[in-house]
Amino acid sequence: MDLEQIKEIEKDKYMKLFRRSSVCFERGEGSTLYDTNGHAYTDFFGGIAVNSLGYNHPDLVKAISDQASKVMHVSNLYYNIPQAQLTDKLAGDTFERVFFCNSGAEANECAIKIVRKLAHARGNGKTTIITAHQSFHGRTLATVTATGQEKYSAPFAPLPGGFKYVPFNDLKALKEAMTPDVGAIMLECIQGEGGLMPATYDYLVGAYAYAKQKGVLLILDEVQTGSGRTGKFYAFEHYGIKPDVVTLAKGLGGGVPIACCLARGEAANALGPGDHGTTFGGNPLACAAANVVVDKLLNTDLLEKITELGDYLSDSLAEKISRHKFVLDIRGKGLLKGVQFDERIPVASIVGKMMSLGVIVGTCGRNTLRLAPPYVITRAEIDDMTDKLETILANINI
Ligand SMILES: Cc1ncc(COP(=O)(O)O)c(C=O)c1O
Repeated sequence: MDLEQIKEIEKDKYMKLFRRSSVCFERGEGSTLYDTNGHAYTDFFGGIAVNSLGYNHPDLVKAISDQASKVMHVSNLYYNIPQAQLTDKLAGDTFERVFFCNSGAEANECAIKIVRKLAHARGNGKTTIITAHQSFHGRTLATVTATGQEKYSAPFAPLPGGFKYVPFNDLKALKEAMTPDVGAIMLECIQGEGGLMPATYDYLVGAYAYAKQKGVLLILDEVQTGSGRTGKFYAFEHYGIKPDVVTLAKGLGGGVPIACCLARGEAANALGPGDHGTTFGGNPLACAAANVVVDKLLNTDLLEKITELGDYLSDSLAEKISRHKFVLDIRGKGLLKGVQFDERIPVASIVGKMMSLGVIVGTCGRNTLRLAPPYVITRAEIDDMTDKLETILANINI
């Protein structure tokens, strides 16, 4: 099937949801994707921060194939070995309990249900969750409502209640929003979709302390920043805090859909039999994949490599493009970086030009380029990407 045939099928038969680039990828190796015409692209977007170990990683492929030949799915009515192994790796230390599901939105749904169930169990009416402007928490009705960007939720009214929104990185506003009905604060350590905007140290540490003081939960949505992306297993480790609930997805399965909600303290025991569930979540195939990713992050020097490569990426961007008058800011941590451009340079045009030079990059927030390459990206690939970005910027005449 060639690209034109694929586009023809999609045009009439797939829901009109995505503005896709005119390319079809068929295979990958390391950080390189190949399209159906055999063209190679270095992937600095990683399937939106998903392909943590790159493409065709031998250990991941082996674990998935071995597991597929044994059993891919059993329901959560029974035990399965990969799930028990993954549970043991993720829970027990920082967090007491974990629940596995399939997507970031689902993991956040679990976190939201924990808040509401706890409020009902305590009979204190603390069901409201404070979230931040420009946040992103998913596309289900509850998580799109949690998302502090009306453009995502307004078309789907009526929306569920129970959320209120505050400006990000504004501790005073957060404190002012703390009414007696609030049971949790839900934040991202770095707002991803919102424009790669890091929570300041004082803000996140302050929010943590204030949540503790008020007896409300701190939920951190680490769907994008977790699973090693910033050079720590959880991004909150950079802040020296310990949230009550954290959610992971994206990079956790290295490309296989798996997500989780981790909780400690009362939050860990808020949900009981029948309160929540999933058919696919935590099945042996997905957990076998996540076991490989988590083992590499926790038992090898991968986290240090992510930090080193992230610093190298920052330096390379700083050296080659920061002086450019259209570059307003370069920010982010580890292998999650944003480059914000002057509005006169639409970021989509940069993405298109990079693509035509064989480099995949993404966008987010306000005219910001998003870089979230696989953790196996090399220094040579980083040099090549920043060279191309520099060339593109050098040729802009306005
Ligand atoms: C911070 C954050 N939370 C939640 C989600 C939703 O995850 P999913 O698309 O897997 O449902 C995303 C997706 O981009 C995200 O970046």
